[in-house]
Amino acid sequence: MNLTKSKELQSRFHSVIPGGSHTYAKGDDQYPESMPVYLSRGKGCHVWDVDGNEFIEYGMGLRSVTLGHAYEPVVEAVSRQLRFGTNFVRPSPIELECAEALREFIPSAEMVKLGKHGSDATNAAVKLARAFTGRDLVATCKEHPFFSVDDWFIGSTPMNAGIPKAVQQLTVNFHYNDLESLRRLFAGHPKQVAAVILELEKETEPAAGFLAGLKELCAREGAVLVFDEMITGFRWDNGGAQKYYGVTPDLSTFGKAIANGFSVSALAGRRDIMQLGGLHHDKERVFLMSTTHGAESHSLSAALETMRIYREEPVVETLWRQGRLLTEGIRQVTKQLGLADYFYVRGRPCCLSYATLDTAKQHSSALRTLFLQETMRRGLLMPSLVISYSHSDADVQRTVEGIAGALQVYRQALDQGVERYLEGRPVKPVFRKFN
Ligand SMILES: Cc1ncc(COP(=O)(O)O)c(C=O)c1O
Repeated sequence: MNLTKSKELQSRFHSVIPGGSHTYAKGDDQYPESMPVYLSRGKGCHVWDVDGNEFIEYGMGLRSVTLGHAYEPVVEAVSRQLRFGTNFVRPSPIELECAEALREFIPSAEMVKLGKHGSDATNAAVKLARAFTGRDLVATCKEHPFFSVDDWFIGSTPMNAGIPKAVQQLTVNFHYNDLESLRRLFAGHPKQVAAVILELEKETEPAAGFLAGLKELCAREGAVLVFDEMITGFRWDNGGAQKYYGVTPDLSTFGKAIANGFSVSALAGRRDIMQLGGLHHDKERVFLMSTTHGAESHSLSAALETMRIYREEPVVETLWRQGRLLTEGIRQVTKQLGLADYFYVRGRPCCLSYATLDTAKQHSSALRTLFLQETMRRGLLMPSLVISYSHSDADVQRTVEGIAGALQVYRQALDQGVERYLEGRPVKPVFRKFN
């Protein structure tokens, strides 16, 4: 694979941008050292790097691009809106349209406030919950990797430099599918927990009664229940995983899939809580989401068009169907190669990832890196296995063929040692204390 131009760009990126990327998940340490590809364009589920190499990809803008890159109807809607201006001094009807559309989709949305980043919404949820309850602690689900760029969450990770101890101590944890752990938390911090925040589902399905039990427990303890639907929203169902599982939270947060990669996020929830950020109450005012670019109108037109497509076309059904096709194809390959215990697909078909295990059945970042290296060589870019509406049967078939080739090398690496096959250092977790 020719990476001449990418390799030339690499030092320029690092000389001006700390980490060489504006998003940690896209950084060099997340990919094979020998393959620092820089992407210049995408169409559907295909992307091209600056040297002209083509990949079928399964990251899809960190799960924000559900329809496909440069998806024509969305591009058209954005282009039309751009001619009318992008930012005004008073609200524009498109903001109302967008909030109303979201309210129609999301079962628990009595009111909706829009932002740009997912973290805008989760930060606002935490602040609102604290103001509403008059309490300080936030309980996050320990098994869920990411909720916000802000101190209340980053302070609870190993990468907590620069965050005051006092702030770090305000975030506490409970475990997924373990109501008892939340009960213990409430008991250990009586009347101190403002919010309980989690994703409805990641790799593990919610145990029977877990989500409903959470809701009941939070109501009894007076804590605000927040479902972070950044990833599950518009993937599990058009109404998010709360619709899929039939359990509604007090507040929920959406981003990513709302606008097919354009920057729109939303906080939705109970009127009595959301109103604290508004003008019609006599309590203390809460500074909710409010930024200069918050209602940038071309992003909102992308959201409206994307939501129109969700409403009128079988997007979610397609994500699930193509995810199943991919899972089945990979399962056949791993079975043939005797790898079923060492490489397997995880999660729901609409939002898959994979596990790379060594001979001791421990998670191996060296084997993950080898898999990335060998799939990239075969024209696949797959930090996860996130499907989009644009992944056709032919794309999935080509993907399974590429994975079959990559897993043959993986098999040899398991038998003979990964260091014989891996070029460069293994990938590293984003949240680590030192480089
Ligand atoms: C579950 C979850 N919540 C919140 C966020 C934060 O979203 P953003 O990166 O748009 O601020 C993310 C981002 O990956 C996420 O996956």
